[in-house]
Amino acid sequence: MDQIETAVEELSEAAAASELERLAREIAYHDKLYHGDDAPEISDAAYDALWRRNRAIEHRFTHLKRTDSPSHRVGAPVSERFEKIGHSVAMLSLDNAFSEEDVGDFVERVRRFLKMDPGQPLGLTAEPKIDGLSLSLRYEDGKLVSAATRGDGQTGEDVTANARTITDIPAVLSGIVPKVLEIRGEVYFLNADFVAVNERQEREGKPVYANPRNTAAGSLRQLDPNITASRPLKFFAYAWGEVSEMPADTQMRMIDFLRACGFRTNPLMVRCEDVASLVAHYRQIEAMRAELGYDIDGVVYKVDDLALQRRLGFVSRNPRWAIAHKFPAEKAVTVLNDIDIQVGRTGALTPVARLQPVTVGGVVVTNATLHNAEEIERLDVRPGDTVTVQRAGDVIPQVLSVITEKRPSGAEKYVFPTICPCDLKTPVVREETASGEAGVIRRCSGEFACPYQRIEHLRHFVSRRAFDIDGLGEKQIAFFYDDPDLPVRAPADIFTLQKRDGGNLKKLAAKEGWGATSAEKLFAAIEQRRTIGLDRMIYGLGIRHVGENTARTLARSYGSWNAFHDAVLSVANEEEEAREEMVALDDIGPAVIEAIARYFSEDHNRALVEQLADEVNVEDAEQPVANSAVSGKTVVFTGALERMSRDEAKAMAEQMGAKVAGSVSKKTDLVVAGPGAGSKLKKAQDLDVEVIDEDTWFERYVK
Ligand code: IVH
Repeated sequence: MDQIETAVEELSEAAAASELERLAREIAYHDKLYHGDDAPEISDAAYDALWRRNRAIEHRFTHLKRTDSPSHRVGAPVSERFEKIGHSVAMLSLDNAFSEEDVGDFVERVRRFLKMDPGQPLGLTAEPKIDGLSLSLRYEDGKLVSAATRGDGQTGEDVTANARTITDIPAVLSGIVPKVLEIRGEVYFLNADFVAVNERQEREGKPVYANPRNTAAGSLRQLDPNITASRPLKFFAYAWGEVSEMPADTQMRMIDFLRACGFRTNPLMVRCEDVASLVAHYRQIEAMRAELGYDIDGVVYKVDDLALQRRLGFVSRNPRWAIAHKFPAEKAVTVLNDIDIQVGRTGALTPVARLQPVTVGGVVVTNATLHNAEEIERLDVRPGDTVTVQRAGDVIPQVLSVITEKRPSGAEKYVFPTICPCDLKTPVVREETASGEAGVIRRCSGEFACPYQRIEHLRHFVSRRAFDIDGLGEKQIAFFYDDPDLPVRAPADIFTLQKRDGGNLKKLAAKEGWGATSAEKLFAAIEQRRTIGLDRMIYGLGIRHVGENTARTLARSYGSWNAFHDAVLSVANEEEEAREEMVALDDIGPAVIEAIARYFSEDHNRALVEQLADEVNVEDAEQPVANSAVSGKTVVFTGALERMSRDEAKAMAEQMGAKVAGSVSKKTDLVVAGPGAGSKLKKAQDLDVEVIDEDTWFERYVK
């Protein structure tokens, strides 16, 4: 395939079409060789190049994208290219100990399990727990045949080509070795190498890694082994999987054997006979931690005698014969420069501490969470304060305490904002919990109008139970939200899309991933929803606490959009009569009314709703069939229904004027029970409520 490629920009349409055809064929051919026959003819890099070219051509000639294009395949082709390898012996994890007492309990458990006499010695090894990622290496007749990541413990990814580039991993073992020998250990990165790799990434404008562990993972899981080779990965051997003939009978001697085979093993491994010496070694390693040059997160203890290990076996995914004694979360002292407020996707305001950069456990920390206003109050933390921060594993660092003696004079008490930092300057509200207490979360009341919340609201707006527009899902919302030509920032924008794309502009049809047909389909789907039921309209607004049921109740009660709109504006206006009328509605509690009032007090929300109402035709709510046999009755469906879905049953009953409840009470008039009905059926019988089956329901009420 040594042909010179024409630059994509210079391809004629005909040439592009024929090349796309060739690429589809070629990629499919190599996929089969790679996945099916395990005999690839080209390097991963060359394969990647085919993909890139295919994508580039499709990008320029969207309409030429073939139905059999490789890019239709879901998922990243990169990860798809790692074959799976089943582990013949599962790769397990370790139970954790966090205190000396936990270690004592562990040793006691082992002794009890083995029914050991108090005086009987029990040897245990202690070694650092490396913070990298585990790898299983399979050697047959002393030769490396495969390397697999841990994956889910049963099946991992085939990273053989990459493992071969790691100098700590011998391709051929030294000495006389078992026919089958699976070696397990940790791939890791030296801290100094991590810094160097990140500097290079930064120079090349590529993303930097958060810590050495992530760098190791990112480097090992490269599609191109040349990249792995350029990263100085290290490997410590500490365990094994399948071994055809065991060359030793203790953990210690197995490790000696692995070293003799050519592996690096950790020099800080010792053998102890009691809890006190295990813990003493733990303290010693902890003291050396910062100077080791690589990250560790604890010390692993293992029963030394392999015959005892076998007797001890496993509980779920952990061996009974080993435990990881973890280091406590790391702490550091630094200055808190400021407190910023972040607005989440639901409008929740989270305070974030901006810190003077400080290294905590080898990671530079500049931000820490303060959780909420109560936490700030509790700590009485103020900008300028000296604080202790803590970081445990991958969790977000947190501010632990304030060193008040170091507080600069004039440091003022922090006042949690009452105005949202989004550009709207909307009031922040503190929501009530279901039980009526003041909740800890403060939210921006801007809802749809708040830029932080808008996209979430749009997603809700098009969701299945709201406007349910075919072909306009979360992905497309994200696309239009950021689209410079046809932005959709508010619900009304959806209904003006076609107009904005009108005339002979046809901007959408020309965009990547679209085309004339899909653009037209979308416009048709939107048109179809321009007429919408009142309940869906209300639900689609995304008012907090106004779920589908509440929306339906509101729709039924007010009947028309105008009546509903007048009512909510009056409620927002604090007109007592309107509020009373709403309170009187079934199932509408104070939290709902509060949320409605808040929503419609916001100018932005009001404008947004009005613009939407101008674009759509809201149908009046269907009035219940007043004279149906079940009108006014409360019905409960339970058990499996065979002729209709639960949703349909509910809609049908409501259509006939019934109220559908989720549980049986004295107020229940009728229970429709299908096969498998349990407690609700029993309760109905206890309360003497009429119970019928699905067929009777149809005979009596539907027809
Ligand atoms: S022994 C059957 N020894 O920790 C137990 N694991 O939390 C086999 N790890 O998945 C593991 N250093 O990735 C063992 N010296 C060490 C270790 C170690 C790091 C990792 C390993 C394992 C995880 C368990």
